[in-house]
Amino acid sequence: MEKSSEEKGSNIVLALDPPLDDRMQMIKKAKKILESTRDHICAVKFNRHLILPLGLFSGVQELIRQAEEYQLPTIMDCKINDIGNTNRIIAEHYFKGGFEALTANPFVGWEDGLQPVFETARRMSRGVILLVYMSHRSAGEGYGRAFVTADNERAPAYSIFARKALEWKADGAVVGATYPERIGEISSILGRNVPIYSPGVGAQGGKISLCMKNGARYLIVGRTITLAQRPGRVAEKIKTQARVRVA
Ligand code: XMP
Repeated sequence: MEKSSEEKGSNIVLALDPPLDDRMQMIKKAKKILESTRDHICAVKFNRHLILPLGLFSGVQELIRQAEEYQLPTIMDCKINDIGNTNRIIAEHYFKGGFEALTANPFVGWEDGLQPVFETARRMSRGVILLVYMSHRSAGEGYGRAFVTADNERAPAYSIFARKALEWKADGAVVGATYPERIGEISSILGRNVPIYSPGVGAQGGKISLCMKNGARYLIVGRTITLAQRPGRVAEKIKTQARVRVA
């Protein structure tokens, strides 16, 4: 990811979530968005928006190949959250389908939880990005709750999840762009060891400058780009704004 970001001069991860449409239109739209934004993004993130209607081993392959052609890494935002055996199978499918990284929920724990996901990722040289604080309005109901630590102390869930990201050597941590103060706190735990991916810029209200100032490394942007009349122009503008903040 780091290499792609440097080569492209961008820290924008495109959330390729085209609006609900018939399947052929959807592929066409997604291909067009990817084509027009390719020079302004450093990776592409997929979600169920495309996987459900198009299928991992059918329609989506066309888009994964397109991303590969543009030398853009692909992330599957599947938020793995089940028992270990199921988690491993989910991860294997997505990795075999061509994704270079996926998202997972640390809430399920390590043993018989995410351990098989990390082991699968390491075996296949892929990445795992952990949810640490989500971007939606009620994120605090879960990620902001006080947990009791192993030492019998109270700490917010997100700070425990951030420490898990370090301990498990995650390849990234997701922290909502809508909570810049959380980005700051979590960034001070992670340091430069685990990069922060921030979704929620634009459509959900997150501000580029605040995210970057507080320590986000990558911005995940969907609707602001995918619904724009000229997705390429918007992606370029966001890239420039975010880059100014990095410098
Ligand atoms: P928008 O249109 O809001 O799209 O720019 C954001 C994309 O990112 C996903 N998303 C998240 N994924 N943790 C995640 O792992 C989050 O907190 C989060 N918030 C948004 C969203 O589903 C969409 O694909």
